[in-house]
Formats: sequence, structure tokens, C-alpha cells
Amino acid sequence: MKRRGTPIGTSLRFLNFAVVKKKTDFLIIGSGIAGLSYALKVAAHGNVLILTKASEDESNTKYAQGGIAAVMHEPDSYEKHIKDTLICGDGLCDEEVVRMVITESTERIQELIAWGARFDKNASGEYDLGREGGHSENRILHHKDNTGFEIERALLAQAHAHPGIEILDHYFALDIMTQHHLGQYVNSKTEGVECYGVYALNTITGKTEQILARTTLMATGGAGHVYEATTNPMIATGDGFAMVYRAKGKLENMEFIQFHPTALYNPGERPSFLITEAMRGFGGILKTIDGKEFMQKYDRRGSLAPRDIVARAIDNEMKTRGDDYVHLDCRHLDKKGLLEHFPNIQKKCLSLGIDITKDLIPVLPAAHYTCGGIKVDAQGRSSIKNLYAVGECACTGLHGANRLASNSLLEAVVYAHHAALDAIGAAKAVNYCENIPDWNAEGTASPEEMVLINESLRELHSIMSNYVGIVRSNLRLKRAFDRLLILHNETESLYERTTVSPRLCELRNLIKVGYIIIKYAMLRKESVGLHYSIDY
Ligand code: FAD
Ligand code: SIN
Repeated sequence: MKRRGTPIGTSLRFLNFAVVKKKTDFLIIGSGIAGLSYALKVAAHGNVLILTKASEDESNTKYAQGGIAAVMHEPDSYEKHIKDTLICGDGLCDEEVVRMVITESTERIQELIAWGARFDKNASGEYDLGREGGHSENRILHHKDNTGFEIERALLAQAHAHPGIEILDHYFALDIMTQHHLGQYVNSKTEGVECYGVYALNTITGKTEQILARTTLMATGGAGHVYEATTNPMIATGDGFAMVYRAKGKLENMEFIQFHPTALYNPGERPSFLITEAMRGFGGILKTIDGKEFMQKYDRRGSLAPRDIVARAIDNEMKTRGDDYVHLDCRHLDKKGLLEHFPNIQKKCLSLGIDITKDLIPVLPAAHYTCGGIKVDAQGRSSIKNLYAVGECACTGLHGANRLASNSLLEAVVYAHHAALDAIGAAKAVNYCENIPDWNAEGTASPEEMVLINESLRELHSIMSNYVGIVRSNLRLKRAFDRLLILHNETESLYERTTVSPRLCELRNLIKVGYIIIKYAMLRKESVGLHYSIDY
């Protein structure tokens, strides 16, 4: 039995024949900062199963460079951090959420430290707080220029040491199991969709399994790979957004895609290597290829203006001058300090013949962060019953139309805490749904179809990067929508005919997310934050 979907709709694949079933109190999809910190909190209250589609440490978290924003001591204050976040969000932040996240920042940082995460200190033994765009104070805790790697290391060590936490790597979550899989029609506007767990593909055995759960956490990160140039690792294919959308859950603010102003210009490298904003916080200055500073023309905060402004300014300079990149100049900075703070960036640049203490660094914007996502309340609860979402895949209201640098790691730990407290109580009242049909394993893949997948991905990248990037227009969005519809229909048909593979599922999810971004962008009839249209 195959179920075909509407043109941009839901296509469910399932059938009755016995496959592996697992059961868990707390199911978590994703092993980045959101999934792991939540796991450590719920583990004392039931068994925890984490599914992660690649190796267990592969995540956006692992590549975070600049650090995690938090208020540690004077002259900083919660009010200043709140104000910076609200300004950056361009009027669309939920102020109550902003206040909650920021006033809990110090406590959550102490918890990360207690779990073993190490942040750099200065000679007097105080935390060495860095500065990034849009921050009015130094408040970024960091571990050199690989803060995410350090956090991921510490959290994984804690998770391994806990007897109640099991991590299954190379398990690809395909779809959330809901009443739809019981053959029931649910009008999501009037009735509650419920989550019973997920179908997941064990990518080593090729078998699809049913994972039943009392509560499920979506912690699948972002969707940078919708675009051609992105700083995100290969796992960032928007699977969580697409799964929730297919299950008729609510998403919000998906038009707000943050482009990081300074990815390293190195044609052919995918993903793009990030040159952290903390380098501009340390004094690095953006210049055109002929050596002229340009940021003051666009904003009085110069190279340290919020990201949307800097990325648009660079985009404009590149387009009007016909250049492929601009330069980041760090040659005037204290050499010892520069190398102490940014050893990994120096290592990467040296491998390309660029010495950051002597040479200009070529940079350009790249897709970096999905500000919108699965709509959640203050407890991290999505619109689907027993389904939580935390981290980059969630939309809490903190970021509004533009995320303040280094607020995302913070948001993840604060919401993991809230969601854990709620799920611990909720799980007690939920029974497993035992009568869900197993996955439909019909279909055959062929090498010819791999070519189709690769080409469709290339087309998606071209559509999204050219028409739905930093600068948009009604005409470009309409063009993108029409072209994506063709890709969508072709991919759904391919999905129906073939066995599931991670590559095909990722393509399908990316196309779905691209469609959602365009749809939300078309509905927003103004220029605000990261959504900039020449028509408004
Ligand atoms: P992730 O860390 O991305 O984890 C997602 C997990 O879900 C992964 O384990 C993935 O394999 C798994 N997954 C996804 N889909 C599936 C599926 N279908 N089935 C099973 N598993 C799945 N933010 C800051 O605050 N400060 C910074 O300095 C900073 N620097 C950054 C630098 C770079 C280069 C990048 C890319 C991002 C940076 N960010 C930074 C953003 C921040 O790193 C992320 O927003 C954050 O780490 C997201 O954490 P997460 O736990 O939500 O998701
Ligand atoms: C960076 O280090 O520039 C990235 C920080 C972030 O994305 O918050």
C-alpha cells in the first residue's frame, strides 16, 4: 500500500509486516547541545533513547566557534543583554521569552561548567568574555575558537557515563508516528495531533524500525543545506522541520534565514569554513578588495553591526563592484592574542597559504542559521501532543527576525531545561501506542536515481541561493516557488517508487523546507530583520 500526497502535501509510507520495535520513555532525535543537555536532565526519570543520523558528535554544535552568550558580571547586566537581543530581533522577539532566557543564562552556564565544559579565563582568573556583532558588552564565553567542540565533548562524556542513556548513531528518523498512521484523519486546526514516536532507518542494516515513545524531543538542528553556500555541516538538512510539517505541526518565522557575513572564500569547499565574528569583536575590520573600509557607510557600529546589516552590506559591495569576496583585515591586531584566541582559524587559513597575522582573509556571506522553526511554548511543547522541540529546530520567540550572535547555544540549554521539567511530568501519564503499522519497504532504488537526487539538489541550491537569499523580491520568490513545485513533484514521485535512503529523504526534506521558506517569505509583505525585499 502506498499513500500518495497532494502536490505539496504529505506522503506517508507504512504497511503491516513485522519489523523491529523499540520502546522508550524519552525519545530524543539529535545529539547536539539541545538533545544531550535535555537527555542529562530527564535520565533520572526513565529510560532515554537518543537517535542520531551520523556519528554521535556530528552536529552544528560541534562547529560552533565564537561561544555562548551569558551575563556573568558587571558592567554587564541582564537588562543590557535583553535590550541587545530585542534590537537585533527587529521588533519581532517575544519579550517575555527574551527575559526568561537571559535571566536564566548564568545558571545554565554554571551547569555546563559543572558538566565539564571548559571556558577560557584571563590572567586574573576571570572568564575571558568576547564580543560579537550587536552586543553592547563583552559577554561571550568561549573555548578558544572551538567552543562547540568543547561543549559537545563534555556533554557526550556525561551521556556515556549515565546508565539510563542509550545513543543509537546512524539512525535516521524518517517520520513522526501519529494518528495519520492509524488511518485516522485529524483536522489539526480543531483536534490534537499526537506523537507516538518515530519511524527510523538504521542506515547500517538498511532496516526501518518503529520507535515507540511516551514523549519525543525533536532536536534536529537547522537547514543550512537548503542553500549552495552554508557554514552548516552535512547533517543540517532540515529533517525536523519537514517531519513536523508533514505531521501537520505548526512552524513559525521560517522566512528568517541568517547568513553569516564571514565564511572563508574558498571556491569548491562545501560546507564553507566559518571565520568567527569574534575576530571582528577582537578588532578585525572588513575592507573591499582594494583596501577600503566600507561598513561605516551602512551602520555606525561598523564591522560589528548585527549580522543582517553586515551580510547585506557585503552582498551589496560584492554585487556593485563585481567582486567575489571582501577582506577581513586582522594584520594590525596583537599577534600573540590573535593566535591564542583563534588557533584553528590560523591552522585552516595556513593550509590555504593565508597567515592571518600577515595576510588579508577573503570572506563572503553563507547561510548559517534558521531563526524560525517548530513553534513551541515556554516549556518547549510543540503543537503536536507529546512532541517537544528544542535548539535550532525550534522557534521559541527569542530571535524574532534576526538572532543575536551566540544566543543559540544559550537558547538550547535554557529550553532543554524547561522541556525536561515538563516532559518528566508528562511521560508518566502517556501509554505506548502499540497498534501502529510497520513501515512500507516496497520499491527499488537504481543508480540512475542517484543521479536524479544529485541533480535535483543542485537545482534546489541554485533556486534558493539566487531567488531566496539575502535580498529578495516578489518576482524572485514567485519564480522560486514555481520552479520548486516541479522539483517537489518529481521528488515525491521518486520517493514513492524507491526504497528509502538517507540521501533521498534529505533531498525530500530540503525541498519541503525550501518550499516552507518561500511560502513564509511570500506572506511577509514588509522588509524586517533577515527578510529583506526590494519591494518593501
Ligand atoms: P545540532 O547541534 O545541529 O544537532 C542536530 C542533531 O540532530 C545532530 O546530531 C544530527 O545528526 C541530528 N539529526 C538531524 N536530523 C536527523 C534525523 N533525521 N534523524 C536523526 N538525527 C538527526 N551558535 C552560538 O550560539 N554560538 C556560536 O559560536 C556558534 N557558532 C556556530 C558556528 C558554525 C560553523 C555553525 C554551523 C553554527 C554556529 N552556531 C553558533 C549555531 C549553533 O551551533 C547551533 O544553532 C546549535 O549548535 C544547534 O544545536 P542543536 O542541538 O539544536 O542542533
Ligand atoms: C561565530 O562564531 O561567528 C558564530 C556565532 C553564532 O553563530 O552565534
